[in-house]
Amino acid sequence: MARKISFINYKGGVGKTSLIVNTAAALAKLGHRVLLCDFDTQSNASIWLLRLDRWNKINAAGEGSIYSIFEPGRAQVRELVVKDVVEGKTGEKVLPGLDLIPTTFNLVDLENEFNGDPKRPHYLVFYEQLATIEANYDFILFDCPPNILRAAQCGVFASNEIYVPVNPDALSLIGFTLLVEKLYKFHQLSASFRSSAMGVPAQVQGLVFNSIKAGVDIEVPKMRLQLRLNQFKTAKRAAPAAKIFSTQIRDAMVVRRAVALGLPAALVGADVEAGPAAGDNVVNDYKKLANEILQHAII
Ligand SMILES: Nc1ncnc2c1ncn2[C@@H]1O[C@H](COP(=O)(O)OP(=O)(O)OP(=O)(O)O)[C@@H](O)[C@H]1O
Ligand SMILES: [Mg+2]
Repeated sequence: MARKISFINYKGGVGKTSLIVNTAAALAKLGHRVLLCDFDTQSNASIWLLRLDRWNKINAAGEGSIYSIFEPGRAQVRELVVKDVVEGKTGEKVLPGLDLIPTTFNLVDLENEFNGDPKRPHYLVFYEQLATIEANYDFILFDCPPNILRAAQCGVFASNEIYVPVNPDALSLIGFTLLVEKLYKFHQLSASFRSSAMGVPAQVQGLVFNSIKAGVDIEVPKMRLQLRLNQFKTAKRAAPAAKIFSTQIRDAMVVRRAVALGLPAALVGADVEAGPAAGDNVVNDYKKLANEILQHAII
């Protein structure tokens, strides 16, 4: 069974996409089979990994992205998978084992124009189709927007685990709090569509501090977050094993540069601007996080 994980926070810009892309790359480098599903209409993860030229073709064609499965008969999830998505300059596959289900800007139609069948909501359609390819993967990761509207609901419904990227600020704490409330409401709303074979709805399993600048003390925001997490655990709104991951991802120029180069940070060569040490260190953070996720037992 693949581990299925949504990365989500109600606060935007905390680093959900950077974290999921680089963690997915770290898991693939460790030899795991990883599928990344992009459920954010901004398409940041898709543009990053496909690079603009390949992504533009899918966006212009209006085919080959996740929204197609919601237009009956148009496409199945399994047809949308871009195998070994990361390519070098001459199109060579440079990160075998990392696949992508891309999104394009038409995903926004799922929030507006889409009139689904109330008996088969969008998240159930996605769940059933994903099940046909799940056995091909060790990890299926969902990059979500900072909300639980329809697109994110697909990822959340299919997930067994929720990870919450946070920055050391008050707004991240508010975003986490709002997320847990909205998650609870969505689980209630979708409960009648869950069969016992699907397992229990996904709860927050982990919080990950991202983009931590050198010399910044995060003890106070960390303590506040831990207190809030403890309250949620007592109220059974977060998993008993939920924790703040001990791995923190440092702020590093190479993470921003990696987006422009269309590569995960681990594949960005050392250069003057990014600095070899900076790159190596943050890449090590992602690797440590991947190992911590591997060791995390879901309770
Ligand atoms: N560890 C890091 N070091 C330096 N910059 C980072 C790091 N993590 C993320 N960033 C930068 O922070 C910005 C926001 O990151 P990202 O797009 O991953 O956030 P997000 O939570 O996915 O945003 P959104 O809510 O819009 O989807 C980006 O410019 C990204 O390059
Ligand atoms: Mg994002």
